[in-house]
Amino acid sequence: MKIKNICCIGAGYVGGPTMSVIAQKCPEINVTVVDLNEKRIAAWNDENVENIPIYEPGLSAVVAEARGRNLFFSTDVDEAIDRADMIFISVNTPTKTYGIGKGMAADLKWIELCARQIARVATSDKIVVEKSTLPVRTAQALKNILENTGNGVNFQILSNPEFLAEGTAVDDLLNPDRVLIGGDIDTEKGREAMQALVDVYGHWVSNDHILTTNVWSSELSKLTANAFLAQRVSSINAMSELCEVTGADVNEVSKAVGMDSRIGAKFLKASVGFGGSCFQKDILNLVYIAKSFGLNEVADYWEQVIIMNDHQKRRFAANIVKTLYNTVSGKKIAMLGWAFKKDTNDTREAASIYVADYLLSEQAEIVVYDPKVTEEQIYADLDYLGSRTGEENRKSVKIVNTAKEACLDAHAVALMTEWDEFLDLDWEAIYEKMLKPAFLFDGRKLLNKKKMIDSGFKFYAIGN
Ligand code: UDX
Ligand code: ADP
Repeated sequence: MKIKNICCIGAGYVGGPTMSVIAQKCPEINVTVVDLNEKRIAAWNDENVENIPIYEPGLSAVVAEARGRNLFFSTDVDEAIDRADMIFISVNTPTKTYGIGKGMAADLKWIELCARQIARVATSDKIVVEKSTLPVRTAQALKNILENTGNGVNFQILSNPEFLAEGTAVDDLLNPDRVLIGGDIDTEKGREAMQALVDVYGHWVSNDHILTTNVWSSELSKLTANAFLAQRVSSINAMSELCEVTGADVNEVSKAVGMDSRIGAKFLKASVGFGGSCFQKDILNLVYIAKSFGLNEVADYWEQVIIMNDHQKRRFAANIVKTLYNTVSGKKIAMLGWAFKKDTNDTREAASIYVADYLLSEQAEIVVYDPKVTEEQIYADLDYLGSRTGEENRKSVKIVNTAKEACLDAHAVALMTEWDEFLDLDWEAIYEKMLKPAFLFDGRKLLNKKKMIDSGFKFYAIGN
């Protein structure tokens, strides 16, 4: 089976970059990315390729090469579905905010809507690929919806979880550690569908990096990978608190530990807490699934990773208040960075949102600078929490265009995202323009402690 037309539903952080790379590497396949969000599609189609809606190093060059050739962005979902032999579902699956499983289970509303739309529109056989991270056994639900249309169309469901990390998405897509494809390995049609997807990736990924499994293993592997990664961050963050009271330095500990080849060096960087659209959502989901099977010990074990992460965010904010003589009321705090990590404009679950919320509840005045996140997004993140009115958020939070401007006359600076440019700031000049004593809280352990203290700062870094 040779794939000629691919449709991807969802032009977000997963669908956009993944389809751009597939289109770049498979020039003979037409790839159409569709989304209901007209503004987002217009931005993907913007004449100036630098204006695409997702900031990812290297992505605009890939889009520039393939767009208009075999990569298309459109709001005409029905047409793209009908034409495609293979449909990727890359829509959002946030944690439910209502009803059963509220705050834990993934909300599959958008997935189900996609399935129903595919079922309604399709007039020829399709391979449907789950790309979004989904709870185990979602494929079965998709299958049930698709197979009960009665229009004689044959659907094969594959799970092909995305392991790209934001900020390095293009590189991760071009050189994946592995590509995982789950399908119905027990039937001829299932194996054919899997092979068709293997052949797509085979354009640039070697065979030994492509794993095929049954659907359930594939779905669960994605949740497991994210849970393990997040667990490492929570583990080192737990140690960071212990380092602070014992005089150990968490960077030294993580280096010493990471050099053990059984442990490995990656994902051992202490921080103000992990964010992003996946870690928390996927672990909550894992906890929910475990609980629903009565596996309470398994659920409690993984829930602790989230509890530790919430604690890390809260204690960073609480430490700012405590250090500033137990009050930040009316004080100006500059927050450098808003994105959940560097090299992305994504802010989902960013620690900065929760730290800002905590400080605002203590009546602080906040000034934010982030090189890639828009003012609109920052206010939307705060408004979404519902802790205060939109008007109050706009009164107490200002967004500026440079780090220098943010720090002017501030009582304290909180470094929230490890953007490279924060390393090169003229910190002495910043110190001069702040109120004294000038406090600097490094939530990413990015800055050189000695240099900051020599510049005059009262300096605090996570885990030191
Ligand atoms: C993650 C997974 O890495 C990826 O495989 C999956 O497909 C989606 O979820 P992402 O959320 O984009 O990717 O970024 P990641 O690099 O994993 O970082 C997540 C959070 O953990 C960030 O807030 C980051 O700052 C934090 N982190 C990461 C640490 O605090 N310390 C570390 O050592 C590593
Ligand atoms: P992710 O990080 O998983 O890519 P995003 O929220 O960035 O998540 O992107 C998901 C996209 O899916 C959004 O742009 C949203 O508008 C789109 N979407 C959700 N449901 C549908 C649907 N039924 N049809 C088309 N697009 C959809």
